[in-house]
Amino acid sequence: MNAASARPKVIVTGRLPEEVEREVCSRFDAQLNIDDRPFTARELQQALQSSDALLTTVADRITAEVLEVEGRRANIIANYGVGYNHIDVAAAKRLGITVTNTPDILTDCTADLAIMLMLMVARRAGEGERLVRAGQWTSWRPTHMIGTRVSGKTLGIIGMGRIGRATARRAQHGLGMKVVFFNRSRVPAEALEGLDATQCDSIEDVLAQSDFVSLHCPSGDETRHLMNAARLAAMQPHAFLINTARGDVVDEEALAAALSRSQIAGAGLDVYEHEPRVPAPLLTMENVVLLPHLGSATLETRVGMGLMAADNLSAFFAGQVPPNKVA
Ligand code: DGY
Repeated sequence: MNAASARPKVIVTGRLPEEVEREVCSRFDAQLNIDDRPFTARELQQALQSSDALLTTVADRITAEVLEVEGRRANIIANYGVGYNHIDVAAAKRLGITVTNTPDILTDCTADLAIMLMLMVARRAGEGERLVRAGQWTSWRPTHMIGTRVSGKTLGIIGMGRIGRATARRAQHGLGMKVVFFNRSRVPAEALEGLDATQCDSIEDVLAQSDFVSLHCPSGDETRHLMNAARLAAMQPHAFLINTARGDVVDEEALAAALSRSQIAGAGLDVYEHEPRVPAPLLTMENVVLLPHLGSATLETRVGMGLMAADNLSAFFAGQVPPNKVA
């Protein structure tokens, strides 16, 4: 901590909701990012050298090289987000840098968005809206823009963690869907909290039965390109793929190829492997709904995430273990 200041210096790498920025400024000697301009690797390194903490977002790429900067002063990175695949956590551990995240608070909103993507792609909502805005809607016609019914269909969940379960609950209780799922470890019945869902032994089992497949597994070496060409081919031709997890869980090239061959019926995506870049072939496909990583984007959730990140920092500077420490 800077001797001249009683309060820890915290550099915030992205614009946060007003209420959060006010709170962060009241607790710390905060440097905000008013222009909301993404930090370069060099700027992240300079921030590590000139502050006691970084409050980062999922858009910052915090590699080992960034963390290994000479003369680092900051010993904590409070991530504004639950996913932390953009931070080299192994390097942080090795260097003794604490990393925290913001779990739970975004579960409901992300699950809402997964359901929204399912409905949008099945009922051709994006396509319909584009048609109306283009002034091309001529009249109601019995055969116009026929979509796929969602209610009563089978939803396959890959990764039955908090967000997977919240999505399953909405699908079953709201839309009367049958739920099957794959999870690496066995999910005990109590954890399903009344959901009538069947755990399958393999991802392929889930793919073979599902009308909708929704991804909720974390990003990492084990799940990179989990949905590859072979797995996409194992889906039913009328099925839809939904991704609100992380972009690298899907092989986007294989997805574009599967869609262009009508191997699957469509996709609803909120996340991409190289954000903000969206693979060009997907941009032209009417049966794909593309959102700009909006899973947690409600004011309530974004404020909650910010206050949680601030609490992690406060605990750290009070000499306690932050409540959401991941490294
Ligand atoms: C997260 O927190 O990991 C989300 O993807 C951001 O919305």
